[in-house]
Amino acid sequence: MVKSGVDKKRYDRAAALYDIFEFPMEAMAFSRWRQLLFERLEGNRILEVGIGTGKNIRYYRERRVIGIDISLKMLEKAKEKVKNLGKNVELIQCDVEALPFKNDIFDAVVSTYVFCSVENPVRGLRELHRVLKPGGRVYFLEHMRCENEIGGVILDMLNPMVRFFGPEINRRTVDNIKKAGFRIVKEKWLLTSIFRFNVAEKMS
Ligand SMILES: C[S@@+](CC[C@H](N)C(=O)[O-])C[C@H]1O[C@@H](n2cnc3c(N)ncnc32)[C@H](O)[C@@H]1O
Repeated sequence: MVKSGVDKKRYDRAAALYDIFEFPMEAMAFSRWRQLLFERLEGNRILEVGIGTGKNIRYYRERRVIGIDISLKMLEKAKEKVKNLGKNVELIQCDVEALPFKNDIFDAVVSTYVFCSVENPVRGLRELHRVLKPGGRVYFLEHMRCENEIGGVILDMLNPMVRFFGPEINRRTVDNIKKAGFRIVKEKWLLTSIFRFNVAEKMS
């Protein structure tokens, strides 16, 4: 059962032009950061959450990938990429806060720019923890509230306006990852502390 939340509607509307709007950010930085993540990704059975239009699909060499998203329209775009690139990626519409998978089945999870918009991020992160095998890792590229307090307060002030159009810009995502039971094993600041690459591990 997929809830009909604000984010689902927002991303359904954005799907058609999403790749075009994001092209400048992708060209300037996002693609480079995606490569960084995929150079480090380990495991054969992978779950990608919030797969969106499927921008990561071209990087998968692993044989068993499942991609999920709450937005059917975003998934339709991802489906085109799976077909065009000839990749073995299964796509499922569902909510990361209620994943339709058994416990302890994935080697790794990929999440790129997702937990800024999941309605209840800790609930979603707990679901990743549940479906990962002990010792399994989540690989995140996320933007979040910066460590600098003045910058953080500015993001807090801008957040209600930005949230009206898109994701939250002041989430304390690293704290949320820890609250969900993970241990942070890697943190790399990519653009100040706002954009970060994190690897989190489910302790065995
Ligand atoms: C900013 S886009 C990022 C898409 C993709 N990961 C990328 O790197 O381009 C966020 C994605 O998360 C999805 N999303 C938001 N809330 C979700 C939820 N509760 N469950 C599953 N997907 C969700 C949206 O539909 C959207 O496709």
